[in-house]
Amino acid sequence: MAICYQPPVKPICVRPSTTFSSASKSPSLRCNFSLPFTTQIREPEPILVSVKAFAPATVANLGPGFDFLGCAVDGLGDFVSISVDPNVHPGQISISHVFGDASSKLSKNPNWNCAGIAAIEVMKMLGIRSVGLSLSLEKGLPLGSGLGSSAASAAASAVAVNEIFGGRLGPEELVLAGLKSEEKVSGYHADNVAPAIMGGFVLVRNYEPLELMRLNFPAEKDLFFVLVSPDFEAPTKKMRAALPGEIGMAHHVWNCSQAGALVASVLQGDLVGLGKALSADKIVEPRRAPLIPGMEAVKKAAIEAGAFGCTISGAGPTAVAVIDSEEMGKRIAESMVEAFWRVGNLKAVKAVKKLDRVGARLVS
Ligand code: HSE
Repeated sequence: MAICYQPPVKPICVRPSTTFSSASKSPSLRCNFSLPFTTQIREPEPILVSVKAFAPATVANLGPGFDFLGCAVDGLGDFVSISVDPNVHPGQISISHVFGDASSKLSKNPNWNCAGIAAIEVMKMLGIRSVGLSLSLEKGLPLGSGLGSSAASAAASAVAVNEIFGGRLGPEELVLAGLKSEEKVSGYHADNVAPAIMGGFVLVRNYEPLELMRLNFPAEKDLFFVLVSPDFEAPTKKMRAALPGEIGMAHHVWNCSQAGALVASVLQGDLVGLGKALSADKIVEPRRAPLIPGMEAVKKAAIEAGAFGCTISGAGPTAVAVIDSEEMGKRIAESMVEAFWRVGNLKAVKAVKKLDRVGARLVS
């Protein structure tokens, strides 16, 4: 598969327009490492000895936006700490600790750990050959929940490694590093890792080369996500295998129009329109919902309780509904938990969270 970052053996090139902070002003980001390299610099040195980064949970697909729309959710996520470590072989990463409920299920081999894979990619992009790093991962998100757990680890790790070396890579390069990890563990899709890194709503316009568009949800509007996660495993690889290889023209037209309406609703801050489009996927949700016990009833319960819309978050099993008030969100969450129990015979945990507009960031 073609990837558009520079091979590690070459001297690295810095594009002046793609610093992490300047990119936040740009609505559209494009990976154009294929441009001629003009400015060659030496291997960067660490400017910090140790950093800790956080990356938020994400809701991918948002109904009709399979593999191309996603957004970040406030207050849930993973932490990654990175330290310069003279005991680690130069140019390599060692995972020292993995904390959290899911820790026993995660490999400490950096080649098989989302945080490790993303860290290795960022080191390659920066051309790091003289410094070894040690990594510690704190999992705040459950695995295989549909909340972008693997992407949050990769995003926090990519940002942490980048910042140790002065933050030379822009968000789209960091998304590419995270995408490498997603490809290995769950499938080649950026609709979790892009919003995990950039925050807010993100549209993946193109994969090769990677082209990302920020969708600015109006700052003055409130948007709450009701997230209800049943005690059920829905591995992304398995949920992707359930999807059709081909679709008919009528469904293509329908889903495109709904995805367009969703984008317009996000930009206008129209929550009713957003919810309506979120609920309207006719291609992916109908294949996956029957694999998650109670999901269809949960969606119905959410809408009856007043949600503007409801669908599967990412590959599931979490159900996500949208609403404009936290109080209403809590009532909707109760109804959804009850429906998972009544129809699916599944216990579920609930959370009502705002949109995260920041994305992955240093916390210390
Ligand atoms: N777009 C991906 C999928 C997201 O639905 O398979 C996985 O979290």
